[in-house]
Amino acid sequence: MSSTTDPARVTVVGLGPMGQAMARALMAAGHQVTVWNRTPRRADALVAEGATLAATPAAAVAGSDLVILSLTDYPAMYDILDPVVRDGSALAGKVLANLSSDTPDVTREAAQWAAKHGAAFLTGGIMVPAPAVGQPGAYVFYSGQKDVFDRHEPVLKVIGEPKYLGADPGLAQLFYQAHLDVFLTALSSLLHATALVTAAGVPAADFLPGALDTLTGIPAMIGDGLELAGELEAGEHPGDLSTARMMGATADHIVRTSQQAGIDLELPKAVKSHYDKAIAAGHGTSNWTALYEVVKASG
Ligand SMILES: NC(=O)c1ccc[n+]([C@@H]2O[C@H](COP(=O)([O-])OP(=O)(O)OC[C@H]3O[C@@H](n4cnc5c(N)ncnc54)[C@H](OP(=O)(O)O)[C@@H]3O)[C@@H](O)[C@H]2O)c1
Repeated sequence: MSSTTDPARVTVVGLGPMGQAMARALMAAGHQVTVWNRTPRRADALVAEGATLAATPAAAVAGSDLVILSLTDYPAMYDILDPVVRDGSALAGKVLANLSSDTPDVTREAAQWAAKHGAAFLTGGIMVPAPAVGQPGAYVFYSGQKDVFDRHEPVLKVIGEPKYLGADPGLAQLFYQAHLDVFLTALSSLLHATALVTAAGVPAADFLPGALDTLTGIPAMIGDGLELAGELEAGEHPGDLSTARMMGATADHIVRTSQQAGIDLELPKAVKSHYDKAIAAGHGTSNWTALYEVVKASG
């Protein structure tokens, strides 16, 4: 993926694996990159490759109109930028593109905080691991002011294909968390299932390739998701091919097998609880998709 824009000045604040990958991709596309990180030595390799290390967060912000933040969470942004805004109008006219994880509400508050200090705010959620940044297939959710996004899209494109979701700053974060809900749960299930077989003395290598087939077989069962989306929205859960009662029995067997193996029970118990609630609510002969009715009501 390469930039179609003139070289721009871009600041990257936060140099974990993700911030470093972004800075590198931006430099490779010809942009002038200023970096800052709480732990300065994390900038060493980037500086050797041509980045400018700002001595302070204020200097980092002053270095570019577009400031990309790649931090563990949003409190880290305030830790870094609160001292900067105490100096007056340092953020005025800047665009903060925060590609860090947090909740949608925290993100909305941050957009208001930025506006109070004269800065525009874009929320981003990057959907690939650090080594894939700037590579084909990389994509990033964005939300926030459309004209601000449009102005900076040619530069942001370098990181990954932008998917603009709308003006609500919380929207990109909502999509990020929803995707990570799928991702993190799947990763935990892979490790849990591996622990189940290794507790029985089976080597992980005998199990994991097949487990990945199970994981990637899910799209074959569900299709592109649009039919499922229609059924969920219509509240239709035909149990012709499988039922919540049948799958709930298996969910219980997984809990008991895990108990016998002496491994952690929280994840299979959480899954079983969805089936128990669906069956108790009268959805036993409906499809597994009926779990949606109890999951969405639980909050
Ligand atoms: N890594 C990935 O593959 C990946 C993939 C998709 C999305 N993301 C998202 O990208 C963001 C960054 O990820 P990462 O892997 O680079 O994370 P990381 O290794 O945890 O780095 C986080 C950065 O935040 C800084 N930081 C944390 N708390 C701070 C504070 N209170 N004050 C100042 N700086 C603070 C760290 O500074 P120090 O160096 O001084 O500790 C570091 O630069 C996260 O929100 C993550 O969810 C990451």
